[in-house]
Amino acid sequence: MTAAFPRLWAEIAPIGLDRTGGYLRYALSDPELILRDWFRNQADRRDMTVTDDGNGNLFAWWGRQWGPGTVLTGSHFDSVPHGGGYDGPLGIVSAFLAVDRLRAAGVTPSRPIGVAAFVEEEGGRFGLPCLGSRLLTGAIDPDAAAALCDADGVTFGEALGGRPAGALPALASRVGAVVELHIEQGRALEVPVGVASAIWPHGRWRLDFTGHGDHAGTTRMADRHDPMLTFAATVLAANEEARLAGALATIARVSVQPNATNAIPSLVRAWLDARAADTATMDRLVETIVKRAVDRAADDGTQVSVEPESASPEVAFDTTLASRLSTLLGGAPILPTGAGHDAGVLSAHVPTAMLFVRNPTGVSHSPAEHATDADCAAGVEALATVLGELAA
Ligand code: GLV
Ligand code: MN
Ligand code: MN
Repeated sequence: MTAAFPRLWAEIAPIGLDRTGGYLRYALSDPELILRDWFRNQADRRDMTVTDDGNGNLFAWWGRQWGPGTVLTGSHFDSVPHGGGYDGPLGIVSAFLAVDRLRAAGVTPSRPIGVAAFVEEEGGRFGLPCLGSRLLTGAIDPDAAAALCDADGVTFGEALGGRPAGALPALASRVGAVVELHIEQGRALEVPVGVASAIWPHGRWRLDFTGHGDHAGTTRMADRHDPMLTFAATVLAANEEARLAGALATIARVSVQPNATNAIPSLVRAWLDARAADTATMDRLVETIVKRAVDRAADDGTQVSVEPESASPEVAFDTTLASRLSTLLGGAPILPTGAGHDAGVLSAHVPTAMLFVRNPTGVSHSPAEHATDADCAAGVEALATVLGELAA
Protein backbone atom coordinates (compact mmCIF):
# COMPACT_ATOMS: atom_id res chain seq x y z
CA MET A 1 0.00 0.00 0.00
CA THR A 2 2.80 2.43 0.81
CA ALA A 3 4.04 2.02 -2.79
CA ALA A 4 0.55 2.34 -4.29
CA PHE A 5 0.14 5.95 -3.19
CA PRO A 6 3.28 7.45 -4.77
CA ARG A 7 2.65 5.43 -7.93
CA LEU A 8 -0.85 6.77 -8.49
CA TRP A 9 0.09 10.25 -7.24
CA ALA A 10 2.90 10.45 -9.82
CA GLU A 11 0.33 10.06 -12.62
CA ILE A 12 -1.29 13.41 -11.85
CA ALA A 13 1.67 15.30 -10.35
CA PRO A 14 2.78 16.99 -13.63
CA ILE A 15 -0.72 18.07 -14.70
CA GLY A 16 -1.11 21.85 -14.42
CA LEU A 17 2.26 22.29 -12.70
CA ASP A 18 3.61 25.79 -13.36
CA ARG A 19 7.02 27.41 -13.08
CA THR A 20 6.49 28.44 -9.44
CA GLY A 21 6.20 24.77 -8.47
CA GLY A 22 2.50 25.43 -7.80
CA TYR A 23 -0.53 24.43 -9.85
CA LEU A 24 -2.81 26.19 -12.29
CA ARG A 25 -5.79 23.89 -12.27
CA TYR A 26 -8.70 26.26 -12.76
CA ALA A 27 -12.09 24.55 -12.98
CA LEU A 28 -12.87 23.34 -16.52
CA SER A 29 -9.53 24.66 -17.85
CA ASP A 30 -7.30 22.37 -19.94
CA PRO A 31 -5.36 20.90 -16.97
CA GLU A 32 -8.55 20.27 -15.01
CA LEU A 33 -10.16 18.65 -18.08
CA ILE A 34 -7.12 16.34 -18.31
CA LEU A 35 -7.62 15.45 -14.65
CA ARG A 36 -11.27 14.72 -15.33
CA ASP A 37 -10.25 12.37 -18.17
CA TRP A 38 -7.79 10.74 -15.77
CA PHE A 39 -10.70 10.31 -13.32
CA ARG A 40 -12.82 8.54 -15.99
CA ASN A 41 -9.87 6.36 -16.83
CA GLN A 42 -9.30 5.37 -13.18
CA ALA A 43 -12.97 4.51 -12.87
CA ASP A 44 -12.80 2.37 -16.05
CA ARG A 45 -9.77 0.53 -14.73
CA ARG A 46 -11.84 -0.38 -11.67
CA ASP A 47 -15.08 -1.18 -13.54
CA MET A 48 -16.72 1.79 -11.88
CA THR A 49 -19.42 3.61 -13.86
CA VAL A 50 -18.99 7.38 -14.17
CA THR A 51 -21.96 9.74 -14.03
CA ASP A 52 -22.15 13.49 -14.41
CA ASP A 53 -24.80 15.38 -12.45
CA GLY A 54 -25.15 18.08 -15.10
CA ASN A 55 -23.47 20.59 -12.77
CA GLY A 56 -19.90 19.67 -13.65
CA ASN A 57 -19.52 17.20 -10.76
CA LEU A 58 -18.33 13.69 -11.66
CA PHE A 59 -19.09 10.49 -9.72
CA ALA A 60 -17.46 7.06 -10.10
CA TRP A 61 -19.63 4.29 -8.70
CA TRP A 62 -18.87 1.04 -6.96
CA GLY A 63 -22.44 -0.21 -6.80
CA ARG A 64 -25.68 1.34 -8.00
CA GLN A 65 -25.50 5.11 -8.64
CA TRP A 66 -27.32 7.03 -5.91
CA GLY A 67 -28.61 3.72 -4.49
CA PRO A 68 -30.06 3.81 -0.96
CA GLY A 69 -27.48 4.50 1.74
CA THR A 70 -24.87 5.76 -0.75
CA VAL A 71 -21.55 6.60 0.86
CA LEU A 72 -19.96 9.54 -0.95
CA THR A 73 -16.27 10.31 -0.82
CA GLY A 74 -13.81 12.21 -3.06
CA SER A 75 -12.96 15.91 -3.25
CA HIS A 76 -11.97 18.36 -6.03
CA PHE A 77 -9.30 18.77 -8.71
CA ASP A 78 -9.22 22.57 -9.05
CA SER A 79 -6.54 24.56 -7.25
CA VAL A 80 -6.13 28.16 -6.16
CA PRO A 81 -3.83 29.95 -8.63
CA HIS A 82 -0.28 28.64 -8.08
CA GLY A 83 -1.54 26.52 -5.17
CA GLY A 84 -0.41 23.16 -3.87
CA GLY A 85 -1.17 19.80 -5.41
CA TYR A 86 -2.68 18.12 -2.35
CA ASP A 87 -5.62 20.42 -1.60
CA GLY A 88 -8.41 18.50 -3.33
CA PRO A 89 -6.73 15.84 -5.48
CA LEU A 90 -5.49 13.97 -2.39
CA GLY A 91 -9.12 13.14 -1.53
CA ILE A 92 -9.81 11.75 -5.01
CA VAL A 93 -6.61 9.72 -5.37
CA SER A 94 -7.08 8.36 -1.83
CA ALA A 95 -10.67 7.39 -2.61
CA PHE A 96 -9.66 5.25 -5.61
CA LEU A 97 -6.89 3.64 -3.57
CA ALA A 98 -9.32 2.99 -0.69
CA VAL A 99 -11.58 1.16 -3.16
CA ASP A 100 -8.56 -0.96 -4.22
CA ARG A 101 -7.75 -1.62 -0.58
CA LEU A 102 -11.27 -2.79 0.22
CA ARG A 103 -11.40 -5.00 -2.87
CA ALA A 104 -8.01 -6.54 -2.03
CA ALA A 105 -9.40 -7.36 1.41
CA GLY A 106 -12.38 -9.10 -0.22
CA VAL A 107 -14.93 -6.54 1.02
CA THR A 108 -18.22 -6.31 -0.89
CA PRO A 109 -20.07 -3.25 0.38
CA SER A 110 -23.81 -3.56 0.68
CA ARG A 111 -24.23 0.19 0.03
CA PRO A 112 -22.93 2.00 -3.05
CA ILE A 113 -19.68 3.92 -2.75
CA GLY A 114 -19.44 7.03 -4.95
CA VAL A 115 -16.13 8.77 -5.59
CA ALA A 116 -16.84 12.43 -6.39
CA ALA A 117 -14.82 15.08 -8.21
CA PHE A 118 -16.58 18.35 -7.40
CA VAL A 119 -16.18 21.29 -9.77
CA GLU A 120 -14.87 24.77 -8.79
CA GLU A 121 -14.33 24.14 -5.08
CA GLU A 122 -11.85 26.99 -4.71
CA GLY A 123 -13.85 29.59 -6.56
CA GLY A 124 -10.53 30.37 -8.26
CA ARG A 125 -12.09 30.81 -11.69
CA PHE A 126 -15.72 31.91 -11.21
CA GLY A 127 -15.36 33.50 -7.75
CA LEU A 128 -17.80 31.38 -5.75
CA PRO A 129 -16.24 28.55 -3.71
CA CYS A 130 -17.89 25.12 -3.58
CA LEU A 131 -19.90 25.93 -6.70
CA GLY A 132 -20.42 22.26 -7.64
CA SER A 133 -21.66 21.18 -4.23
CA ARG A 134 -23.80 24.32 -3.91
CA LEU A 135 -25.48 23.40 -7.20
CA LEU A 136 -25.92 19.75 -6.22
CA THR A 137 -27.58 20.72 -2.92
CA GLY A 138 -29.67 23.57 -4.33
CA ALA A 139 -27.74 26.23 -2.39
CA ILE A 140 -27.43 28.32 -5.57
CA ASP A 141 -29.86 28.91 -8.39
CA PRO A 142 -28.61 27.31 -11.66
CA ASP A 143 -29.18 30.52 -13.63
CA ALA A 144 -27.16 32.55 -11.11
CA ALA A 145 -24.38 29.93 -11.30
CA ALA A 146 -24.49 29.90 -15.12
CA ALA A 147 -23.99 33.69 -15.18
CA LEU A 148 -20.84 33.72 -13.00
CA CYS A 149 -17.95 35.10 -15.06
CA ASP A 150 -14.25 34.36 -15.06
CA ALA A 151 -11.53 36.99 -15.57
CA ASP A 152 -11.83 36.65 -19.38
CA GLY A 153 -15.60 37.14 -19.41
CA VAL A 154 -16.36 33.42 -19.97
CA THR A 155 -19.42 32.37 -17.96
CA PHE A 156 -19.69 29.16 -15.95
CA GLY A 157 -22.58 28.14 -18.24
CA GLU A 158 -20.35 28.58 -21.31
CA ALA A 159 -17.47 26.65 -19.76
CA LEU A 160 -19.85 23.87 -18.71
CA GLY A 161 -21.54 23.78 -22.13
CA GLY A 162 -25.02 24.69 -20.92
CA ARG A 163 -27.23 25.63 -17.99
CA PRO A 164 -26.36 23.60 -14.86
CA ALA A 165 -28.92 20.97 -13.90
CA GLY A 166 -29.20 22.18 -10.30
CA ALA A 167 -30.21 20.27 -7.20
CA LEU A 168 -30.49 16.50 -7.06
CA PRO A 169 -33.81 16.06 -5.23
CA ALA A 170 -32.94 12.52 -4.10
CA LEU A 171 -29.68 13.57 -2.44
CA ALA A 172 -30.80 13.59 1.20
CA SER A 173 -32.86 10.41 0.87
CA ARG A 174 -30.21 8.45 -1.07
CA VAL A 175 -26.96 9.44 0.63
CA GLY A 176 -26.27 7.79 3.97
CA ALA A 177 -22.95 9.48 4.65
CA VAL A 178 -20.27 11.71 3.12
CA VAL A 179 -16.59 11.41 4.02
CA GLU A 180 -14.15 13.80 2.35
CA LEU A 181 -10.45 13.18 2.94
CA HIS A 182 -8.33 16.35 2.73
CA ILE A 183 -4.86 17.55 3.57
CA GLU A 184 -4.91 19.47 6.86
CA GLN A 185 -4.24 23.15 6.23
CA GLY A 186 -3.08 24.58 9.54
CA ARG A 187 -0.54 23.47 12.07
CA ALA A 188 -3.05 21.56 14.13
CA LEU A 189 -2.52 17.86 13.41
CA GLU A 190 0.46 16.08 14.96
CA VAL A 191 -0.42 12.50 13.99
CA PRO A 192 -0.95 11.15 10.46
CA VAL A 193 -4.77 11.25 10.43
CA GLY A 194 -7.45 13.31 12.20
CA VAL A 195 -11.20 13.88 11.99
CA ALA A 196 -12.89 17.27 11.44
CA SER A 197 -15.25 18.79 13.98
CA ALA A 198 -16.22 22.10 12.40
CA ILE A 199 -15.50 24.73 9.75
CA TRP A 200 -15.34 28.39 10.69
CA PRO A 201 -17.86 30.63 8.94
CA HIS A 202 -16.25 32.61 6.14
CA GLY A 203 -17.05 34.88 3.24
CA ARG A 204 -15.76 37.04 0.42
CA TRP A 205 -16.49 40.72 -0.17
CA ARG A 206 -15.53 42.78 -3.21
CA LEU A 207 -14.35 46.28 -2.34
CA ASP A 208 -14.28 48.96 -5.05
CA PHE A 209 -12.17 52.01 -4.21
CA THR A 210 -12.77 54.76 -6.74
CA GLY A 211 -10.99 58.09 -7.16
CA HIS A 212 -9.71 60.37 -9.89
CA GLY A 213 -7.30 58.96 -12.44
CA ASP A 214 -4.63 61.53 -13.24
CA HIS A 215 -1.00 62.17 -14.20
CA ALA A 216 1.64 61.04 -11.65
CA GLY A 217 4.05 63.79 -12.76
CA THR A 218 1.76 66.80 -12.89
CA THR A 219 -0.90 66.32 -10.18
CA ARG A 220 0.12 68.05 -6.95
CA MET A 221 0.01 65.80 -3.89
CA ALA A 222 -2.61 68.06 -2.29
CA ASP A 223 -4.91 67.77 -5.32
CA ARG A 224 -5.06 63.97 -5.53
CA HIS A 225 -8.03 61.66 -4.95
CA ASP A 226 -6.00 58.46 -4.92
CA PRO A 227 -7.98 55.25 -4.22
CA MET A 228 -4.71 53.35 -3.75
CA LEU A 229 -4.25 55.19 -0.44
CA THR A 230 -7.73 54.21 0.76
CA PHE A 231 -7.07 50.64 -0.33
CA ALA A 232 -3.69 50.51 1.44
CA ALA A 233 -5.16 51.90 4.67
CA THR A 234 -7.95 49.32 4.46
CA VAL A 235 -5.47 46.43 4.10
CA LEU A 236 -3.77 47.58 7.31
CA ALA A 237 -7.11 48.12 9.05
CA ALA A 238 -8.31 44.63 8.12
CA ASN A 239 -5.18 43.07 9.53
CA GLU A 240 -5.37 45.09 12.75
CA GLU A 241 -9.10 44.48 13.32
CA ALA A 242 -8.78 40.73 12.69
CA ARG A 243 -6.00 40.50 15.27
CA LEU A 244 -8.10 42.41 17.80
CA ALA A 245 -11.11 40.15 17.15
CA GLY A 246 -9.13 36.88 17.29
CA ALA A 247 -10.34 36.29 13.74
CA LEU A 248 -8.85 36.21 10.22
CA ALA A 249 -8.95 38.82 7.46
CA THR A 250 -7.01 38.68 4.21
CA ILE A 251 -6.82 40.96 1.20
CA ALA A 252 -4.80 39.05 -1.36
CA ARG A 253 -6.37 39.77 -4.72
CA VAL A 254 -6.41 43.18 -6.30
CA SER A 255 -6.89 44.75 -9.70
CA VAL A 256 -5.99 48.32 -10.57
CA GLN A 257 -7.13 50.65 -13.34
CA PRO A 258 -5.24 51.65 -15.35
CA ASN A 259 -2.38 49.83 -13.59
CA ALA A 260 0.28 52.14 -14.97
CA THR A 261 3.43 53.27 -13.15
CA ASN A 262 2.87 56.91 -14.02
CA ALA A 263 -0.90 57.22 -13.55
CA ILE A 264 -2.84 57.78 -10.33
CA PRO A 265 -5.42 54.96 -10.43
CA SER A 266 -9.11 55.62 -10.97
CA LEU A 267 -10.15 52.28 -9.47
CA VAL A 268 -8.64 49.75 -7.11
CA ARG A 269 -10.76 46.62 -6.83
CA ALA A 270 -9.85 44.27 -3.98
CA TRP A 271 -11.33 41.18 -2.39
CA LEU A 272 -11.62 40.66 1.37
CA ASP A 273 -11.68 37.12 2.78
CA ALA A 274 -12.88 37.12 6.41
CA ARG A 275 -13.29 34.18 8.81
CA ALA A 276 -13.99 33.74 12.51
CA ALA A 277 -15.00 31.09 15.01
CA ASP A 278 -18.60 32.35 14.94
CA THR A 279 -20.75 34.33 12.54
CA ALA A 280 -21.40 37.27 14.90
CA THR A 281 -17.65 37.88 15.28
CA MET A 282 -17.10 37.61 11.52
CA ASP A 283 -19.98 40.01 10.74
CA ARG A 284 -18.73 42.51 13.33
CA LEU A 285 -15.22 42.29 11.91
CA VAL A 286 -16.38 43.00 8.36
CA GLU A 287 -18.57 45.91 9.52
CA THR A 288 -15.61 47.45 11.33
CA ILE A 289 -13.28 47.04 8.34
CA VAL A 290 -15.85 48.59 6.01
CA LYS A 291 -16.46 51.49 8.41
CA ARG A 292 -12.73 52.20 8.55
CA ALA A 293 -12.55 52.05 4.73
CA VAL A 294 -15.43 54.52 4.42
CA ASP A 295 -13.90 56.90 7.01
CA ARG A 296 -10.58 56.78 5.23
CA ALA A 297 -12.25 57.38 1.84
CA ALA A 298 -13.75 60.59 3.27
CA ASP A 299 -10.22 61.77 4.20
CA ASP A 300 -8.80 60.80 0.80
CA GLY A 301 -11.63 62.27 -1.28
CA THR A 302 -12.37 58.82 -2.72
CA GLN A 303 -15.35 56.44 -2.57
CA VAL A 304 -15.69 52.86 -1.46
CA SER A 305 -18.45 50.38 -2.25
CA VAL A 306 -18.87 46.83 -0.94
CA GLU A 307 -20.40 43.81 -2.69
CA PRO A 308 -20.74 40.49 -0.77
CA GLU A 309 -19.67 37.71 -3.15
CA SER A 310 -19.98 34.55 -1.11
CA ALA A 311 -21.10 33.37 2.30
CA SER A 312 -20.18 30.04 3.87
CA PRO A 313 -21.97 29.58 7.19
CA GLU A 314 -20.47 27.89 10.22
CA VAL A 315 -20.39 24.10 9.87
CA ALA A 316 -20.60 21.69 12.79
CA PHE A 317 -19.99 18.21 11.42
CA ASP A 318 -22.18 15.36 12.69
CA THR A 319 -20.72 14.74 16.16
CA THR A 320 -21.89 11.13 16.37
CA LEU A 321 -20.26 10.33 13.04
CA ALA A 322 -17.06 12.18 13.97
CA SER A 323 -16.66 10.28 17.24
CA ARG A 324 -17.51 6.99 15.52
CA LEU A 325 -14.75 7.60 12.95
CA SER A 326 -12.30 8.73 15.61
CA THR A 327 -12.90 5.52 17.57
CA LEU A 328 -12.64 3.40 14.42
CA LEU A 329 -9.28 5.01 13.75
CA GLY A 330 -7.92 4.23 17.19
CA GLY A 331 -8.73 7.58 18.82
CA ALA A 332 -7.82 9.95 15.97
CA PRO A 333 -7.89 13.59 17.15
CA ILE A 334 -10.97 15.66 16.31
CA LEU A 335 -10.16 19.23 15.21
CA PRO A 336 -11.79 22.27 13.60
CA THR A 337 -10.54 24.12 10.52
CA GLY A 338 -10.74 27.58 9.02
CA ALA A 339 -10.75 26.18 5.46
CA GLY A 340 -13.91 25.68 3.42
CA HIS A 341 -14.85 22.34 1.83
CA ASP A 342 -17.60 20.74 -0.28
CA ALA A 343 -18.17 18.49 2.74
CA GLY A 344 -19.26 21.61 4.62
CA VAL A 345 -21.93 22.37 2.02
CA LEU A 346 -23.13 18.73 1.97
CA SER A 347 -23.26 18.60 5.78
CA ALA A 348 -26.45 20.69 5.77
CA HIS A 349 -28.22 17.78 4.01
CA VAL A 350 -26.59 14.48 4.99
CA PRO A 351 -24.42 13.13 7.85
CA THR A 352 -20.96 14.29 6.83
CA ALA A 353 -17.44 13.84 8.11
CA MET A 354 -13.93 14.72 7.03
CA LEU A 355 -10.60 12.99 7.50
CA PHE A 356 -7.49 15.17 7.61
CA VAL A 357 -4.01 14.00 6.63
CA ARG A 358 -1.12 15.63 8.49
CA ASN A 359 0.58 18.58 6.83
CA PRO A 360 4.04 18.84 8.45
CA THR A 361 4.42 22.61 7.95
CA GLY A 362 0.75 23.51 7.83
CA VAL A 363 1.38 25.52 4.64
CA SER A 364 -1.43 25.34 2.06
CA HIS A 365 -2.70 27.36 -0.95
CA SER A 366 1.00 27.62 -1.79
CA PRO A 367 3.51 25.60 -3.82
CA ALA A 368 5.08 24.63 -0.47
CA GLU A 369 2.02 22.59 0.56
CA HIS A 370 3.16 19.04 1.31
CA ALA A 371 2.28 15.74 2.95
CA THR A 372 4.58 12.73 3.23
CA ASP A 373 3.86 9.56 1.22
CA ALA A 374 3.71 7.63 4.50
CA ASP A 375 1.01 9.93 5.92
CA CYS A 376 -0.92 9.84 2.63
CA ALA A 377 -0.78 6.03 2.70
CA ALA A 378 -2.06 6.16 6.30
CA GLY A 379 -4.87 8.40 5.02
CA VAL A 380 -5.80 5.79 2.41
CA GLU A 381 -5.87 3.07 5.09
CA ALA A 382 -8.05 5.25 7.32
CA LEU A 383 -10.42 6.08 4.47
CA ALA A 384 -10.69 2.40 3.51
CA THR A 385 -11.49 1.50 7.13
CA VAL A 386 -14.14 4.20 7.34
CA LEU A 387 -15.74 3.47 3.94
CA GLY A 388 -15.72 -0.27 4.67
CA GLU A 389 -17.56 0.36 7.93
CA LEU A 390 -20.07 2.91 6.59
CA ALA A 391 -20.90 0.90 3.46
CA ALA A 392 -21.06 -2.49 5.20
C1 GLV B 1 -10.89 26.82 0.41
O1 GLV B 1 -9.89 26.17 0.34
C2 GLV B 1 -10.94 27.96 1.28
O2 GLV B 1 -11.11 27.78 2.49
O3 GLV B 1 -10.72 29.07 0.81
MN1 MN C 1 -8.34 25.10 -0.86
MN1 MN D 1 -9.85 21.74 -0.80
